[in-house]
Amino acid sequence: MAEALPRVLVLHGPNLNMLGLREPQIYGRTTLADIDAMLIALGKELAIGVETFQSNHEGELVTKIQQARGHYAALVMNAGAYTHTSVALLDAVLASDLPLVEVHLSNLYKREEFRHHSYLARAAVGQICGFGADSYLLGLRAAAGIIART
Ligand code: DQA
Repeated sequence: MAEALPRVLVLHGPNLNMLGLREPQIYGRTTLADIDAMLIALGKELAIGVETFQSNHEGELVTKIQQARGHYAALVMNAGAYTHTSVALLDAVLASDLPLVEVHLSNLYKREEFRHHSYLARAAVGQICGFGADSYLLGLRAAAGIIART
């Protein structure tokens, strides 16, 4: 029987469902559906199963991360504004025992001071920001590299 592909869970936090409409000068015109489709296509190339999940609710993201433990090989997450506020998401990632690649469309360090701190960064293998939708694709490639090395 063929071996099952490793799976990566891509999480999108609050307001990312508004991509395409939301502040296009910062986030671009690419919609979340476009990003998900690109991730799934890249996953096929990399022989990785990709699942995506968006929520505007912190608790739903926490629950999804808890449920990921043992079922996925890595997490790629853009936690949106929760990046800068959520100890609960940090704790959920630590409890999941899964490698995390943190991604952001915009370059956080060119923006307001409050976006410079990420609670998730200390649980992440690394952070990719500033490349628009490509940040997610680079993030998936990074996750594939981590999986290949483990
Ligand atoms: C973001 C950056 C966050 O500061 C912001 O709250 C977002 C999107 C990004 O992808 O650039 O919602 O995570």
